[in-house]
Amino acid sequence: MARFDGKVVVVTGGGLGFGRAYSLGLAAEGATVVIADVNMDNALQTQAAIEELGGKAVVIQTDVSDEASVIAMRDQVDRDLGGIDGLVNNAGIYPVLEIDSVTKEHWDQIYNVNVWGSFVTARACAESMKRRGGGSIVNISSGTFLRPPPNQPAYVSSKGAIIALTRSLATELADDGIRVNTVLPGLTATPGIMGSPDFSEEYMESRVDLQLIKRQEQADDTVGAAMFLLSDDSSFVTGQSMLVNGGGSMI
Ligand SMILES: NC(=O)c1ccc[n+]([C@@H]2O[C@H](COP(=O)([O-])OP(=O)(O)OC[C@H]3O[C@@H](n4cnc5c(N)ncnc54)[C@H](O)[C@@H]3O)[C@@H](O)[C@H]2O)c1
Repeated sequence: MARFDGKVVVVTGGGLGFGRAYSLGLAAEGATVVIADVNMDNALQTQAAIEELGGKAVVIQTDVSDEASVIAMRDQVDRDLGGIDGLVNNAGIYPVLEIDSVTKEHWDQIYNVNVWGSFVTARACAESMKRRGGGSIVNISSGTFLRPPPNQPAYVSSKGAIIALTRSLATELADDGIRVNTVLPGLTATPGIMGSPDFSEEYMESRVDLQLIKRQEQADDTVGAAMFLLSDDSSFVTGQSMLVNGGGSMI
């Protein structure tokens, strides 16, 4: 019996980058994965990759910054799959902007997806988990919270907010049997990062120099931590933060 047999796990932003890695990893261990992504092309490609390997995945177009879209996704999962056992709150954006150019629009854009999106998705999915008798939520923060790169004040503070949100939600949902934890990945060459104006091989290698484990992080490196926190292996762990960054910083 695989670790996630019979479990339904929602992965926001599950179509690309880290989200695709979480989706593939969970499906390989028996989960039915709900790929909740705003971009259907990415999501359908991930679904096809999972099905090719014999796994189960459904795609539901979802914009996490829009609460109505999130609730519609949750209702569809409840109706079609019977409910939600796990959530990886992975969808996030990280536009780069130097401090003097930061506007309210830029700030709101990042907070609407990264913080509000994580909150409303956790709240909506928790309602379904309560009906199942419990569940586990993994929020995705970032090692940048501990060692900020230049030109990302809104993003870095949004990822700090995820740590605080995790602690608050762990407190709010404990009596419902729902655990809430955070994974903090380090810099990883996902499609989103490679499309960033600051991306270069030199920059990636300069971050490796700061790590104890001297290689570039891959999206797959964080999958084990997320699956541990989603599974019953971590049944006495809640409100915690796990850094997966080759020792690039320490809590
Ligand atoms: N790549 C890194 O170096 C790194 C490091 C630490 C943390 N993270 C975090 O990991 C998460 C994923 O990052 P990534 O690098 O894989 O990104 P990515 O840009 O490669 O992929 C992000 C996915 O999320 C989807 N998405 C974006 N906005 C959405 C929305 N409003 N609703 C639903 N889906 C949405 C996109 O369509 C895409 O499929 C983010 O929260 C990011 O902050 C990334």
